[in-house]
Amino acid sequence: MNPSIKMPPQVAWDSGSLSGAPLMQKTTHLGDLNGIFADDEAWRGGDPALAVYRVEMLDTPSGDGELYTGVTHLNPGRVGNEFFMTRGHFHARREQGEVYFGLRGEGLLLLQAENGQTRLERVQPGSIHIIPGLTAHRLINTGHDILSALAVWPSIAGHDYAALSGGFALRVTTDILKLMAKEVQNG
Ligand code: F6R
Ligand code: ZN
Repeated sequence: MNPSIKMPPQVAWDSGSLSGAPLMQKTTHLGDLNGIFADDEAWRGGDPALAVYRVEMLDTPSGDGELYTGVTHLNPGRVGNEFFMTRGHFHARREQGEVYFGLRGEGLLLLQAENGQTRLERVQPGSIHIIPGLTAHRLINTGHDILSALAVWPSIAGHDYAALSGGFALRVTTDILKLMAKEVQNG
């Protein structure tokens, strides 16, 4: 019997769109992000129906040893002077890690350890981000285009949003970004 060749799902490198398999999608609107941005007044003044980010995921099995694959498309924008970002989370199973790949646009991945220590990685087409266990993560769009990043994570990881209800220890605003750009220039 001849071996058969299966067409796997595809990711379009330019748009980050997934195809060729059953997908699940979830859009998060500005109105869903109560308490996420520092400037509450600016958040209340925004359009609650505005889409901030959309996650498309391959509809694959869950359970021990299974992996989920999804692409986050984060729109450009700001609330006050803080850039649009994902809600951000620890994994419910804290020890579980994840890999992000930058596909489109430019932004930052904010990582925060359980002791509150933060670090930033630049997300751009082709960047690979190894998120270790015990590390909260959030995408931030600092550019003018959509920021798209593909993620692969263990299906058993789950999400713990509540642990960060007080916010991450670092906020990326236009002022902070300018400061960081100066530091890079000055070496
Ligand atoms: C899964 C993961 C991503 C995020 C997505 C949306 O573990 O890290 O798929 O779920 O970027 O961000 P949150 O879940 O923080 O709203
Ligand atoms: Zn995650």
